[in-house]
Amino acid sequence: MEPKELLGKITDVVRECGEIILHAERGKSRIDEKAGHANFVTEYDKRIQQILRKSLLQILPEAVFVGEEEDIHASIAKGYAFIVDPIDGTTNFIKDYHMSVVSVGLTLDGEKYMGVVYNPYSDEMFTAVRGQGACLNDGPIHVSSQPLSNGLVLFGTAPYYEELAKRSFEMAYDYFKKALDVRRSGSAALDLCSVAAGRAELFFELSLSPWDYVAGALILEEAGGKVTTLEGGPLTLHAGCSVLATNGIA
Ligand code: IPD
Ligand code: CA
Ligand code: CA
Repeated sequence: MEPKELLGKITDVVRECGEIILHAERGKSRIDEKAGHANFVTEYDKRIQQILRKSLLQILPEAVFVGEEEDIHASIAKGYAFIVDPIDGTTNFIKDYHMSVVSVGLTLDGEKYMGVVYNPYSDEMFTAVRGQGACLNDGPIHVSSQPLSNGLVLFGTAPYYEELAKRSFEMAYDYFKKALDVRRSGSAALDLCSVAAGRAELFFELSLSPWDYVAGALILEEAGGKVTTLEGGPLTLHAGCSVLATNGIA
């Protein structure tokens, strides 16, 4: 299938999932706790993941499917693999904070190939295909050319790992002193897209999982940005790692 056709089919599915987030009866939804501090899952996380799995595998039946809400240990080394977060920003969703996205990454032979991140609240569809640039809705996007001193720094608190909290806030304080200000959205996928779209200059988080960053990292790279672990190595796609994403200048 041509990349353009494939991307169109994936965005159709993702948009449908966004509609479910927008029209969710959140008050009636059951909320369960998962391992770690303040780590929740709602019926909507599970339901959207089921829809993504069914519809995405209809589009590419040969693909492996890795989703946040099920313990799937599929190998992504060969062929296509979808790496999916049905709702990135679940706590925001529970609180009706309007800052949650659907994130679908697609890898090919263990490398990032396509990324789709959709914010239904703002109707913003971020997309990228490897080697073909990044888009927001129908227009191309590019990272900003501002230095850190004139930049906004986004960060995630790695909330499910209490042992990382102190270091996260120390780093945020250091960046706060060097930049204009800091922000914490509650969605790592959206933060990566915000740097990609030139709305912020840097994002970091001490521990994330592949479904949080595969799609957003490709979108950022295709928008001209740079993403590594905090140590400067490549992001791992089969297991979690830290993330440092910049416009390449900050
Ligand atoms: C979380 C969000 C949050 C980040 C956490 C993630 P979830 O994902 O991306 O911004 O700080 O580390 O786990 O649990 O809402 O899908
Ligand atoms: Ca997530
Ligand atoms: Ca999630």
